[in-house]
Formats: sequence, structure tokens, C-alpha cells
Amino acid sequence: MQETKDIGLRGILVADTKICAVDGEKGRLIYRGYNIDELARYSSFEETVYLLLYETLPTRKELEIFKETLASERQLPVGIIRHLKKRKKTANTMDVLQSVIPMLADFDSEARIETKGVNIEKSIKLIAKTATLVACWDRIRKNLDITKPDEKLGHATNFLYMLNGDMPDEETARDFDTCLVLHAEHSFNASTFTARVVASTHAHMYACAGAALGALSGELHGGANTQVMRMLFEIDNPDRVEKWINATLDAGKKIMGMGHAVYKTMDPRAKILSGISEKLAERTGNTKWFELSRKIENITRAEFKKRKGKEIYPNVDFYSPSIYCVMGIDPDLFTPLFAVSRMTGWCAHIIEEKFAEAQPKAVIYRPEAEYVGGYCGLEGCKYVRIDKRE
Ligand code: COA
Repeated sequence: MQETKDIGLRGILVADTKICAVDGEKGRLIYRGYNIDELARYSSFEETVYLLLYETLPTRKELEIFKETLASERQLPVGIIRHLKKRKKTANTMDVLQSVIPMLADFDSEARIETKGVNIEKSIKLIAKTATLVACWDRIRKNLDITKPDEKLGHATNFLYMLNGDMPDEETARDFDTCLVLHAEHSFNASTFTARVVASTHAHMYACAGAALGALSGELHGGANTQVMRMLFEIDNPDRVEKWINATLDAGKKIMGMGHAVYKTMDPRAKILSGISEKLAERTGNTKWFELSRKIENITRAEFKKRKGKEIYPNVDFYSPSIYCVMGIDPDLFTPLFAVSRMTGWCAHIIEEKFAEAQPKAVIYRPEAEYVGGYCGLEGCKYVRIDKRE
């Protein structure tokens, strides 16, 4: 047994991947060789999905066809809508997603066909339908009529249209599209690793995606954005930031949306999201949430440095809440929105894992743990039958 353990697998290499590179020291994020700054500026969600699934940027024609294919998969099976209507209206959207995504397998006769081509088709279905599922569920729980997807609209515009029942303006749709690009992939984070572990057992894609959703829902991962909004609501007034941050740190609690397991400098996604949040605030005149977020960032960074002698930076979940809130999206949908986009990364990783695309062979994940349970050690305790036990 090795002497030291790498708790939480920090720094342990478990696989090779060709999908994404994260440079935590320099604050760089690369999808299939392309820098996130350029993708955020010039690409679209659909183009990013194409890049992640097909390993290359599409030509104009390929992108057009791909957009049509993705849009044609947006409809949910009637059986799923019927199921959603029977759910408790108070159900958490992440719980709904985690249970309903695997149900899509019931409606896919090819769910268990394990060729790469069919798995890409399943990926397209998963990416298209996750967006519809979130929008559809939100309207069902609010007793609103379901808005049918519109195949003529791009993914981001159509999602906002399905959610709100009316068309977003162009700039809002563009900002939301960029948010989707930024959340699409992030290497071996907890949910993606979960998806790959499940894929390594040869479970089908819907099962892998369902497992990843469970991992994403936790507040130390995708759930952080909802917690950030909760923090913004709780603080509410910029004059209260300093006292609130100090009290939270004094109590040994975390400031949500700050810090990262890999980035030891500014998360490049947070930098872009902060810019979007600032511009959106100026455009709409609703500057409250951006300004509050900026003050929380500044005070947390100063206080963290004072207390620990080191830097802490905002992560991807810090500025997205101030964007989504101004867009009129409910806070409990923030983590589901993360899933709407990250489904792409999960699918790319599930396929890479299943077809051993970056390493010589596919093996089931099986790390080791040291047994420290005491009792009678590895010798085992002497079993006493129940009638002889006091
Ligand atoms: N608030 C307060 N303290 C924090 C912190 C935060 N947001 N993030 C890290 N720290 C503290 C840690 O508790 C640790 O303290 P210690 O040295 O006294 O044990 C120290 O800073 C170093 O932490 P680090 O090793 O850099 O981070 P990690 O890998 O342990 O944790 C996260 C990474 C993301 C889990 C952590 O930063 C966190 O919980 N952030 C808030 C939740 C969040 O935003 N999650 C979304 C991530 S994308």
C-alpha cells in the first residue's frame, strides 16, 4: 500500500484526453486545440458542439447541416412530457433532469447500440433534448403552456424562447450563447469524471449522462452558481458586503463562486463572464447584481490574502448568476443551465472513454482505498450468530 494518499485524486493522472486542456497556472482553457477566448468571441454554441463531438471546426456547409440536425432533435417524447406533468411541482430541476435523462433511453431503440456513429447521434439527441427538458419542465411547474421548440431558431435563442414564451433580443441571445460556449467543457472535473467512470463500465450514454447530472448538482460543483445568487440576495446591499464576507470566513464557511481546484489564477471563463455581466448591466440599466458581485470579489480577494497570504479568484460560477438574473431566469435554473451546456463535454468524454480514443485500451476505473476500519483488521472478526449475541 502506498504511504501517502492523494485525497480527492488531486494531481493524479488517470487518463489521456484529446478533448480539453486546462492550464491552471496560466489560466488558459483549450477545447480541442482552440483557446476559449477566441471561441467565446467568434464561435457559437452549435459550432463548439461540433468541434467537441467531431474533433474539428466545421465548414460553413457542415455547420448549417449540423444546426438543422440538432434543431430537429429538440422535441421530447410524449411519454416524457406526460411524466413531467405528473411530477411534484416543487421537485428540484436537477433531480428532475437526473431522473428523466436516463428515461430517454426508453424512447431510443438504439440506446444500447455501441458504435461511435450511433453514440454521436445519441449525443446530439441528449444535447438538444436537455435544453427542451429544462424549459418544458419550468413551464409545467409554473402551470404555463409548453412552448414548442422552433427549428428555425439557433440553440440559445430557441432555449430562451421555449423558457419565456417570447423571443429574446439579439444581444441577450448572443450573450446567452457565449455563456453556453463557456460552460460546454472543462476536462476531468467531478461530473465529467463521473460520466467517464460510468462509461468505463460499458453503461449506455443516457446512464452516463444521468450520473454526471447527479455530480453536477452538488454546491461545490455546478450547484455553486445557485448558491452565489443566494449570497447576492442575502447581502443585497453593497454596504453589507464587508461584514458578510468577514462573518462567513470567520465561521469557516466558503464564499461560493470563489476558488478553484485547478486554476490558481483568474479562471478565463470568469474574466469573460465578468465582461458580459458588466455590459449587460449597462445595457439594461440593472447594475445592482454586477456591482454587488464586483464588490464581493474585491473584498473576498483582499480578505483572503490577509488571512491566508495567498490569492483567490472568481470561478465560472461567480459572474454567471448576475447575468442570468438580469436575463430574468430563476436562480434554481442556473445549475440546470450549466447542464444544458455541459452535456456536450460529457458526451465527448463518454465517447472518448468508450472507444479508448486517447489511450491504448479501455479499462474499467478501479482505484484503491486503504482499509482503516479497525475492528479485527484484515484477519476479520469472528462471526457470532444472532441468537448467541448479547
Ligand atoms: N471560500 C473560502 N475559502 C476557500 C474557498 C472559498 N470559496 N475556496 C478555497 N478556500 C480555502 C480552502 O478551504 C483551503 O483552506 P485551508 O488551506 O485552510 O484548508 C484553501 O482555500 C485552499 O483551497 P484550494 O486547495 O485552493 O481549493 P480546493 O481545491 O480545496 O477547493 C473548490 C476548490 C472549488 C472546492 C473551493 O474553492 C470551493 O469550495 N469554492 C466554493 C464553491 C465553488 O464555487 N465551486 C465551483 C467550482 S467551479
